[in-house]
Amino acid sequence: MKEKLEQLRQQAMQALEAAPDKKALEELRVKVMGKKGSLTELLRGMGSLPPEERPKAGQMVNQLRQELTERFDAREAAMEAAAKAERLAAERLDVTMPGKRRPAGGLHPLNRVLDELIDIFQSMGFDVVDGPEVETEHYCFEALNVPKDHPARDMQDTFYLGPDLLLRTQTSAAQIRTMEGRTPPIRMICPGRVYRADEVDATHSPVFHQVEGLVVDKGITMCDLKGVLEQFAHEIYGPETKVRFRPSFFPFTEPSVEVDVSCSECGGKGCRICKGTGWIEILGAGMVHPNVLSGCGIDPEVYSGFAFGIGLDRLTTTRHRISDIRLLFENDRRFLEQFAR
Ligand code: PHE
Repeated sequence: MKEKLEQLRQQAMQALEAAPDKKALEELRVKVMGKKGSLTELLRGMGSLPPEERPKAGQMVNQLRQELTERFDAREAAMEAAAKAERLAAERLDVTMPGKRRPAGGLHPLNRVLDELIDIFQSMGFDVVDGPEVETEHYCFEALNVPKDHPARDMQDTFYLGPDLLLRTQTSAAQIRTMEGRTPPIRMICPGRVYRADEVDATHSPVFHQVEGLVVDKGITMCDLKGVLEQFAHEIYGPETKVRFRPSFFPFTEPSVEVDVSCSECGGKGCRICKGTGWIEILGAGMVHPNVLSGCGIDPEVYSGFAFGIGLDRLTTTRHRISDIRLLFENDRRFLEQFAR
């Protein structure tokens, strides 16, 4: 009996240590200590022993059962601890690893220049208004003193959406909307997209941007226009910049001027940017035509005003030495990233 027990003990211990996982361990536990297990079998076999040996044998079996139970439990606990340690090791985070960088976006160069421009005009007391890109003939042409047979109205120049609906060709439409809705004094700028059926090339795009300006008050003269534009040019291009007025024509201003600034690239000597002239044309302007004022219910005998329309794309390309206007619309990141600060 004693030898049998010792044999069982050794076998069980060996198998126990060799069990690869909890499942195998559990199976072993049943095989040894279950109802039909080998230890239980031994216990049953005790009936064949002489009565005086039975208590001693019973004691030995119980001792072995207890010992084995402890070993099984210990082995199981060790397996659980090992599995947990393994899981923790697999889930370990290395907090010293470098993070993934997300590059920050940046403003489009047109928006950068526009923001600058808005700051300059706001500091001179102008407010910023918005106007629709889809306009009627009234706001885009009629009220601006552009007669029916004016070439600007031609299908070649203007995108018509319907008989009396078009994409605005100029932000000047916002002048009319402002004067119709307000009483002077008026000081506003209106930035936005404009559309013309132009062929695309390095200096032309069917969609481009203007910033309209309008001042209406008592006693406004061309000197005010020049003062405001000079201030603007100095802030954008530097204080040494000169401003030049050339006589021009617009149906809604009289007199009308084309405004040039001395080329900031060559200081007026002539270069590639200014095409050798020393000057860069940046806007059209003039004194608001009396017909336009009265059409909006403003008495031209009492009030006068000036208006200007800045070409934002041209301002941006000359400002940042961009050689081709198409770059502003292509959204090529290699180009745009140069401006993202
Ligand atoms: N709207 C004119 C253009 O598109 C520019 C302009 C605006 C001229 C205001 C005079 C006054 O060319």
